[in-house]
Amino acid sequence: MKAVVMDEFGGPGVLHVAERELPEPGAGQVRVRVRASGVNPFDGKVRSGRMQQMFTTELPAVLGLEISGVVDAVGSGVEGLAAGDEVLGHAEGGGYAEYALATTVAPKPDGLGWAEAAALPVAAETALRVLDLLGVARGDTVLVHGAAGAVGTVAVQIAAARGATVVGTASEANHDYLRELGATPVVYGEGLIDRVRAVAPDGVDAVFDVAGQGALPDSIELRGGTSRIATIADPEAYRLGVTFSGASARDAGELAELARQAADGRLRLTVARTYPLEEAPAAHASVDTGHGRGKIVLLAG
Ligand SMILES: NC(=O)c1ccc[n+]([C@@H]2O[C@H](COP(=O)([O-])OP(=O)(O)OC[C@H]3O[C@@H](n4cnc5c(N)ncnc54)[C@H](OP(=O)(O)O)[C@@H]3O)[C@@H](O)[C@H]2O)c1
Repeated sequence: MKAVVMDEFGGPGVLHVAERELPEPGAGQVRVRVRASGVNPFDGKVRSGRMQQMFTTELPAVLGLEISGVVDAVGSGVEGLAAGDEVLGHAEGGGYAEYALATTVAPKPDGLGWAEAAALPVAAETALRVLDLLGVARGDTVLVHGAAGAVGTVAVQIAAARGATVVGTASEANHDYLRELGATPVVYGEGLIDRVRAVAPDGVDAVFDVAGQGALPDSIELRGGTSRIATIADPEAYRLGVTFSGASARDAGELAELARQAADGRLRLTVARTYPLEEAPAAHASVDTGHGRGKIVLLAG
């Protein structure tokens, strides 16, 4: 099969298409004929070699955390899934390929496109995990840093659907987009505290830092302490006593529910751009900029 392989760490140019052996599904796994694979900033961090101390990757490697496609083989102990099922889910061992293995998958509803489906698993798991951790509920005012990106897009909508008032930071170019998602937009950077207070005069009840771009001190000031603040991307959290949330258990049922919502239009999924597998370097160069609106997706056929 064709896969996007990296033999060394470095810039986007280390990614290239090569032949790999077809992976065999182990116990509990399915093999999926991949149609689309989401590209995450995490992939770029692994590719650069910066993650090696925390998360060791052996080379050669195939990146890619999330996929949509058609089940093609089923490992032992798998129930309720069969060859031919259209699914989306979390890839194990590399999603940027024609075939990938997965354990947590959900049915892909007919009304959901392949690219949109591949944009959902990581954003859904992350957004639900952190909003639950923060206890976001009706009546809360939630500040989301980096609200227009792939995770932010889903987090804003789930928070708003729970009945929270959402304030989201983004560059000016993404402000109309944030309004459409249900958030009040503010520009990030110098002067943020005043801008947030202007739109949320009664204060902020919780802060979800998706961006990881240095907004934790301002967040602590806005909250009057470190409670109900969580980041998924800023290691300064450890020094400041703020909660850092990493990946945790995945839930196929929750993924299935959000996929249904996306298919019937209750949850908007934004695919910023698609690229064929051969153009993985360009896809990574785009994600590396850190200024996406929604998700970059690779199409595998
Ligand atoms: N720990 C976990 O479990 C976990 C899970 C998923 C993702 N992550 C991490 O979370 C981060 C976001 O992921 P993503 O997929 O949502 O990324 P993304 O799609 O690339 O979005 C990043 C967003 O950050 C915004 N941004 C850039 N500079 C900013 C700043 N100084 N202040 C506030 N916002 C800024 C950008 O908005 P503009 O375009 O408007 O500038 C962009 O929309 C990444 O670092 C990723 O690795 C962690």
